[in-house]
This record gives sequence, C-alpha cells and structure tokens, in this order.
Amino acid sequence: MANSPPDLQAAEIGEAVSRRRNFAIISHPDAGKTTLTEKLLLYGGAIQQAGAVKARGEQRRVTSDWMEIEKQRGISITSTVLQFDYQGNTINLLDTPGHQDFSEDTYRTLAAADNAVMLEDAAKGLEPQTRKLFEVCRMRQIPIFTFINKMDRPGREPLELLDEIEKELDLVPWAVNWPIGSGENFRGVIDRRSRQVTLFERAERGRQASEQQLSADDPALRELVEHDLLDTALEELELLEGAGAELDLELVHAGELTPVFFGSAMTNFGVRPFLDAFLELAQKPIARQSIDGLIDPLRPEFSGFVFKLQANMDTRHRDRVAFVRVCSGKFEKDMTVQHARSGRAIRLSRPQKLFGQDRMVVDEAYPGDVIGLNNPGMFAIGDTLYIGQKVEYEGIPCFSPEIFAWLRNPNPSAFKNFRKGVNELREEGAVQILYDTDQSKRDPILAAVGQLQLEVVQHRLENEYGVPTRLEPLGFAVARWVSGGWSELEKVGRIFNCKTVRDAWDRPVLLFKNNWNLNQLNEDHPDLELASVAPVVSGSEPISL
Ligand code: G4P
Repeated sequence: MANSPPDLQAAEIGEAVSRRRNFAIISHPDAGKTTLTEKLLLYGGAIQQAGAVKARGEQRRVTSDWMEIEKQRGISITSTVLQFDYQGNTINLLDTPGHQDFSEDTYRTLAAADNAVMLEDAAKGLEPQTRKLFEVCRMRQIPIFTFINKMDRPGREPLELLDEIEKELDLVPWAVNWPIGSGENFRGVIDRRSRQVTLFERAERGRQASEQQLSADDPALRELVEHDLLDTALEELELLEGAGAELDLELVHAGELTPVFFGSAMTNFGVRPFLDAFLELAQKPIARQSIDGLIDPLRPEFSGFVFKLQANMDTRHRDRVAFVRVCSGKFEKDMTVQHARSGRAIRLSRPQKLFGQDRMVVDEAYPGDVIGLNNPGMFAIGDTLYIGQKVEYEGIPCFSPEIFAWLRNPNPSAFKNFRKGVNELREEGAVQILYDTDQSKRDPILAAVGQLQLEVVQHRLENEYGVPTRLEPLGFAVARWVSGGWSELEKVGRIFNCKTVRDAWDRPVLLFKNNWNLNQLNEDHPDLELASVAPVVSGSEPISL
C-alpha cells in the first residue's frame, strides 16, 4: 500500500470500513450464547459442522473455549475473536466469557466493540449478568441488538419482555419480528416491516431449519396456523404500531433504541434474518476517542489499541498474545509502528488472526478488525500503536472488584517465578493487584469480580509458572478509588471500618466490608470524591511486584 496513491488508499480503507461490522454478545450464562455463536458462524461458513463451538463434554471439539480450566468446567472464561464473511461483508464477533466471574474481561472486550447483541432467554427475560453488562454498553453508548432466544420453549409474554427492557434499562425496544405463539405452540414470526411470516418447523438439532415464508395477509396462512394464535400475534403487532415508535437508526446507533428479534438458536430459527437485519442496521467501525479528540477510521495511517492480553494461549507454544483493535488505516504484516507509551518503534512481523486455537498469519487488517500480536512483554492493556502523527487512545478503565484475598507464596525459593506469574497475569488483566500501604507486607492482594477469577489465577500460577500458592481471603466486598489521590485522603484523617491499599499505579483505594460502611464515609466526608471505576492511566508504568 505504501506505493499506492493516497486517494486509492483512502478508497480502499473506505470500502473496507463500509463492509465491516463488529459486535460482542452480552448475556447471562445459559441464555444460549454458545449456541447462537455456533449458528452465526455456520451462516458465515466459518465452521462446517454445528457443534464445533460447543463447549460441553469431552467428545465435542471446542473452538471458542480453549483453556484447560474451561474444558474441565465446561464454561467459557476468556474472550476470543471470531471473524467470518457474510454476503460480502466481514463480521468480527468478539467472543466474551459467559461466566459472571469473568465480567471484567467482558468489560474490556466491550471497549473494542462497535455493537452488542443482548441475548435473553424468553423464559427468564433480563438476568443479573445481562443487566451488569448492559450498564457497560450504556457507559459507552454502544448500539444494542436484542435476540430473545428459546422461543421453542414455553416463555414469558413477548409484550412483557419488551416492557421489561423499556422500564428496567430505559431502552426503547423495537420489535423487528413478532412471534406467533410460543413453546409447543410456537408457529413462527412475522417480519414487521415486510409482513412476511416465516413458519417454524422443528429441525433436527444443529441443522438449518427450513424457512417457509408467506405474507401475513395470505389466506393460505390460515390453513397452516391456528387462527387464535395468528390473531393474537396480529393484534399485538397492531398494538406495537399504535405505540408509535419508529425504527430510527440514529437512536439505534446512540444506544437508545434496541431492535428486538425473536427466535430459537438451537433449532436455528430466526438466526439468518437476525444476521441480515444486523448487517443493515449495525454501526460500522466508528471514530474512536483519543486523548486529543476523535480519530476517524478513514485516517490513512494505521492506529489501534490493545484491549486484551493473554498468556500461554497454547501451552505447546507458551507464548503471549496482545489483541489489538484496529481503529484507523490499513494494517499490514511487517509494518513498523510506534508504541505510544514507550515511544519505541516495533516491527509487527507475526500478526495473527485467531480462531479458537487455530492461528493464521494476517497479511492485512482494517478498522473494526482484531489482530493478535505476539507479546514479548511490552504491551499492556490500553496501549496505543500507531503510524504517523502520534495518537493515544483513551485507555480502558479498571472495574470495581468485589472479592479480595492475600496471595501467599509458601515457598520463598520460588519467588522469581511467583513474581513473574503475578506480574504477567496482572498485565494480562486476569486479575487486579493491590498492595498494602505497609511496604513490609510485600504479598500482593488479588482483587477480582468473581471467586472463579481467583481460582484461575492460582490454577495458572501452578500450571504455567510452577508455583503453588495459598489464598487468604480479606473480608471486604466494596472498593473505591480516591479521585483526588493521597493528598485528598490525608485531609480526611483516620477512617474507620475501612482498609486503605494501593493499586498498581500507586493510587489510594479504600476497601469496605459492605455498602453501609461506604455510605457512612460518604456521609461523614461528603467532599471526598470516590470512584467505583478507576480512572484510566495513560503513559505511565505500573508497579511490579
Ligand atoms: P451459554 O453459552 O449462554 O451458557 O448457553 P448455551 O449455548 O450453552 O446454551 C445453554 C443451554 O440452552 C443448552 O442446553 C442449549 O442447548 C440450550 N439452548 C440454547 N438455545 C436454545 C433454544 O433456542 N431452544 C432451546 N430449547 N434450548 C436452547 P444444555 O442442556 O445446557 O446443553 P446441551 O445438552 O444442549 O449441550
């Protein structure tokens, strides 16, 4: 590309951006994320056989879940990126861990996503993990597409499900299709804009359901569907029309209106129409915020940021991979880029595309894509890479941990490995590390969103670094960063029912046993500004153990 004239380059990047969509799925465990992912990939031709992604049981091969502990427990812990082509477009699915203990990893992945798909189980509606993840999307104003799954099983009333989204999330739902019946009586969906009915037939698991279509006003439909079910669906549809909301793309892209789809991932019903509408309505790679303002994806020079690090993805390789979201320009293999934090030039000679455990060398990538870079320890989460004039993207914040424990290393002779493991796992963002203010207490405090996150750290320290460790729980449940730093904290004097610790950037963090103690401090010192999400740190090195 270095040799092509500038307007040709701009046209090439513009064309690539217009053909790209990227998204992450947010859901509560068991809503059907793995199943939906698998079906989406099937349409993209990315996997030949349904079941290839599924992470249950030994006999099935796992594509998106690959870590040992994931296999043991049958859950999805880390995020991978799946890319597939559909109707001449390139879709990047940023896969997120399903287990709630790993929501921190999901938060970071959402920082790299331009759209989110909110997956609900029709019988359950909104669930805790979905709500939490939704809040992160709201913070970033990510467009949300809602897929209400498991319509082949008895579920809640569709109108009630929409109402819940509107009331609880303050998000206007706009049903793109409407179900006829549910559970045993599920007969299909009516597309609201075309009034085409797609009939539901129970397909064999994993097979693509036949999708017979006819108009909602076709008399032949009444031969095929019970009148009462059809009439109810049509009446409800009229009710929705009467409510008056319009499918306003601007509101969708502002994250204020969510297109809603009903379907059944397992029986592969409604997945293709969902994908078609998603292509039409989703946000293309957008301008991203840097510390000096928005950077347009059409900026001709490459830039991107690291949103995730992963060590030892493949124990045969014992390597580390930094995942970079491309934000502008064209990325090319063997490019030399600037690393904003260190000011160093780096040649990116072995960029990879990852698909579960399989890797391919990437020759080029465009805004909205994700590439994996071998990380010899120089990348940290939030780092910017760029060419040309300096760009520094806003970093990714640390989210409030809820579980805290001392991490003890009972074997002093293993300290070197212990230190290496703790530092690498922190850099990777597997866990947050806090330190006692008393410098003589050198053991790190692990701070996590969920208990399983701590277990994974212990498991990985033992298996990947050869260091068995001991956890000693600290009885705290709430963390707050002191926005004004140490000087503000000193003004307040002694605080009761609270422990002060330092984070990896030597900033004061207060730990409380419960919200009651936190509220007490807020009442006693209303001027002390506290934050539940740590401000982003750009351009400085964290403390190592
Ligand atoms: P997750 O990744 O969100 O945790 O969910 P996953 O896809 O693993 O699905 C959770 C369970 O829900 C699975 O059943 C799956 O087969 C089922 N499921 C997903 N989509 C649908 C759907 O549209 N209809 C129905 N009826 N079920 C659905 P399981 O019994 O836990 O696992 P398995 O026996 O299928 O392996």
